[in-house]
Parts: sequence; structure tokens; C-alpha cells
Amino acid sequence: MAIETVGIIGAGQMGNGIAQVFARAGFDVLLNDVSETNLGKALATITRNLDRRIDKKTLSQDEKAAILGRIRCTVDLASLGRRDLIIESATEREAIKTRIFADLLPSLGPDTILTSNTSSISITRLAATTDRPDRFMGFHFMNPVPVMSLVELIRGIATSNETYDALKAIVGQLGKTAASSEDYPAFIVNRVLIPMINEAVYALYEGVGNVASIDASMKLGANHPMGPLELGDFIGLDTCLAIMNVLRDGLADTKYRPCPLLVKYVEAGWTGRKAGRGFYDYRGEIPVPTR
Ligand code: CAA
Repeated sequence: MAIETVGIIGAGQMGNGIAQVFARAGFDVLLNDVSETNLGKALATITRNLDRRIDKKTLSQDEKAAILGRIRCTVDLASLGRRDLIIESATEREAIKTRIFADLLPSLGPDTILTSNTSSISITRLAATTDRPDRFMGFHFMNPVPVMSLVELIRGIATSNETYDALKAIVGQLGKTAASSEDYPAFIVNRVLIPMINEAVYALYEGVGNVASIDASMKLGANHPMGPLELGDFIGLDTCLAIMNVLRDGLADTKYRPCPLLVKYVEAGWTGRKAGRGFYDYRGEIPVPTR
């Protein structure tokens, strides 16, 4: 399966990072979103990231122009139909993802591989809503996509060996490393990481420590690059909550109950960095703990 053209659905923080790494690796990228504004923001983010690389002298102006030249944007979902590979990276809600697949299917070429960057939803269940469970797979990137080396590969029950091999080869072309996960709720990274973040929110909720002491403890005491609350804000507290709900519903174990304080922050719209406020307030010069 020769894969040269890629369609990415969703231009949010994951989608724009995925577009950047594919374009940098030489793929022709068509980036889709429902909003022109989101597409404009995505291109601005990619340009800023590439400029940072130029400042650090790891990228030339010509390479930057070539990378940007390989990315086109569209609000027309149907125009992605003839791509070799589609990566759905829309909001982490199953109803939204299945709606996108239903809208896309009529224009989809017979050989196109369809993937989802879902961080937790069952690949087998998503695949079953399409006409190609054998050419459907979980293709899960980590945030920030240009920096993080891992891509999780998740096979649904019907995913073919050819599909798996094609995606594994692409991970190598991107200069990243693949890890295979069975199709169980939240796969590997989020099965371990998100309950840790939820536990940090419990520690805050129960008054074991404040935001600063919990984050400092895990950064300096466990050598994590970010504290768990800072990381929750970075991932998005709405995404963290959605993943906890998938774990609780999918594994039916109360140890995965979302902390009520996490629910409260999401209900307030304080969903982290992207909202300007989460466990830290990002609206000033430096992030200030909200507790
Ligand atoms: N986009 C692109 N590049 C970025 C970036 C971004 N958003 N943020 C940082 N970088 C780059 C910088 O340019 C810099 O590059 P060079 O070393 O080549 O100069 C490098 O990353 C390090 O950045 P900084 O020095 O500014 O900051 P740092 O050393 O604090 O590192 C970090 C930043 C890489 C984000 C680091 O804090 C980190 O690794 N944090 C943990 C991230 C993590 O755990 N991600 C996984 C989240 S879980 C997930 O994604 C799965 C899911 O489904 C929820």
C-alpha cells in the first residue's frame, strides 16, 4: 500500500501537530475542520513551531516553505475522499466521530485507510460503523505531536495485517516509534496516565496538597517533565474527564471514578490551557495556581 496523500480531520491541538509532522516527512496533507477560523489558527501554530526550529537552526527557510507548501486546508469534508490515508482527530466524543465517518463514507475511495486518533474510544466499535473494518485502525499521537516520539497502534478486531503493516511503516517514516496496544479502554498511555492525573486532582480535592506542592512533588520527586495538574491543563481537563468516563464505563470498576473537582472545573469551562484557565490561570504573564 503506497501512502502519499493524507487527510486530517480536525485542526485542533492534535490535528495541527499531526499535519506538521506528516508534511515535514514529505506527505501531501489536506487538513479539514468545520471552521475556517480553526484552520487559520492551525496554520499559525504550525508556522510558529517551524519558526522556532529556524531560530534553533534545525530548519532552513526553504524547508519551512516546502513544509507549508505541502499543507492545504479545507472545510469540505468530501474533498478528503480520495486521500490514501485519513486520520480523524476531531473532538473526543463518540457521536461526533461516528457522524464524521458517516458523512465521509459516500466520498471515500475503496482503498483508503481510515484511522482515528481517539485517545480512548473502542476502535472495534468505531470501525463497525464504517464500511471498512479491515482498513480501520487506531493511530494515536501524543501531545505535543512534533516533540513526542510515540505513536500507539491499536488494531480493531477486524483490522487486516496489511493495514497494520502500512501504518507501522508510516510511523517509521515520521521518525517516531510505534507501540502496539490491544483495543481496550484508553489503550496503554492513557490507561496509566489519566488515572494518575485524576488521583492528583483527588489529592487536591482532599487537601493533601495545593496545586503548587502536588506538581512540584511529581516534577522534583518523580522526575516528570510536568506536574500532573499542569499536564492535565495541557491535555485539556475535558479530555481527561472524557477518558476517565470511558475507563469507568468500559471497565466497570469504581477505581476509575472521575474526581468531583475535575468534573467541577470542566463544568465551569475551566478546561485548562486552551481555555485560559484550569488548575492554573494562564491569562497573565506567568501561570498562577487556582488553588
Ligand atoms: N509544539 C511543538 N514543539 C514544542 C511544543 C509544542 N506545543 N512545546 C515544546 N516544544 C518543543 C520546543 O521547541 C523544544 O524543542 P528543542 O528542544 O528542539 O529546542 C522542546 O519541545 C522542549 O521545549 P521547552 O524547552 O520549551 O520546554 P520543556 O523542556 O519544558 O518541554 C514538553 C516541553 C516537551 C512539553 C515537556 O514539558 C513534556 O514532555 N511534557 C510532558 C508531555 C506529555 O506527557 N505528553 C503526553 C500527554 S498524553 C497524550 O498526549 C495522550 C492523550 O491522548 C491525552
